[in-house]
Amino acid sequence: MRTTVSTFAAAKISGRKLTMLTAYDYSFARLVDSAGVDSILVGDSLGNVILGYPDTISVTMEDIIHHTKAVARGAQNALVVADMPFMSYQVSVPQAVENAGRLLKEGRAQAVKLEGGVVVANQIRAIVDASIPVVGHIGLTPQSVNAMGGFKIQGKGEEAVNKLFADGQAVAEAGAFAVVVECVPPLVMKRLTEELPIPTIGIGAGPHCDGQVLVYHDLLGLFDGFSPKFVKKYAEAGELIKKAFGQFVSEVKAGQFPGPEHCFGDPETSIPKMY
Ligand code: KIV
Repeated sequence: MRTTVSTFAAAKISGRKLTMLTAYDYSFARLVDSAGVDSILVGDSLGNVILGYPDTISVTMEDIIHHTKAVARGAQNALVVADMPFMSYQVSVPQAVENAGRLLKEGRAQAVKLEGGVVVANQIRAIVDASIPVVGHIGLTPQSVNAMGGFKIQGKGEEAVNKLFADGQAVAEAGAFAVVVECVPPLVMKRLTEELPIPTIGIGAGPHCDGQVLVYHDLLGLFDGFSPKFVKKYAEAGELIKKAFGQFVSEVKAGQFPGPEHCFGDPETSIPKMY
C-alpha cells in the first residue's frame, strides 16, 4: 500500500513509529522501498554523498529533479519527498511555489521538504495551498551552515528552545504534514513531539520522535572517516565493496576473471555465438 500524508497523520495518532531513508537513484530507491520504509527522501545531502561537495549549498533544482525522477521510478510504496535546494524557496513566495511544483511535475515527488521555521511559514502555506504536501525541517538546518557558523547541536538554552518551539508551531500552523528535527537534545525533542500536532521525524534528536530518518550512506558505512554520534552503522558495506573491487582488480591482473563460466562458449576452442 502506498504511503500518503494520511498514513503520517494516522501514525501520529496511533503512535506507530515512522521511517524515512534517503535515496538518490533508481536501484537504491528499490532497495529502500523493499525494506518497507514509509518515506524516501531525495535529500540535498545529495551534495555531500553523491556530488562530493563539502555542504549542501551548491545543489541545484536540476540536480534534485534529475535524482528525484530516478527515485520515483524505483519507489513502489514509499512516499517520495524531494528536498528544496538552497535559494529555491528563500527569495520569494511565488518562486517557492513554482519550484515546489517542478519537484512534483518534473521529478514526480509526492511531497517537498524545506528548511526553516517562522521565516519560511509563508512559503509553506502557499505551497500547501497549491496542493503540494510539505515536510518542514527545523533545528540544525544544514543550508544555514554559514549563518550558524558550523554544524552545531540546536535547542540548547532557553532562547534556543523557545526558537525551536516557535519554529515547530509555525511549520505545523502553516500546514506542513510532518517536520524533520535535526540535532536537538532528546528531552527537548520529547516535549516538542508531545506539543506538535504533526509527526516529528528526528535525526540526531533521540528516541522521543514520531519517526526517524537517516542518510543511507551513514547507515551502511559507505564512508570511512568522520561519522556523526547519532548514526548507527547497520553494516560495513564500504569495507565489503572495497574488498569486492579489490578482488576484481587482482583477479583480472592474475587472469582469473573472466573464467570459462563467464564466456559465450569455450574461450579456447569454440567460435562464439554472441547473441
Ligand atoms: O538532505 C538530507 O538528507 C536531509 C536529512 C539529513 C534529513 O535533510
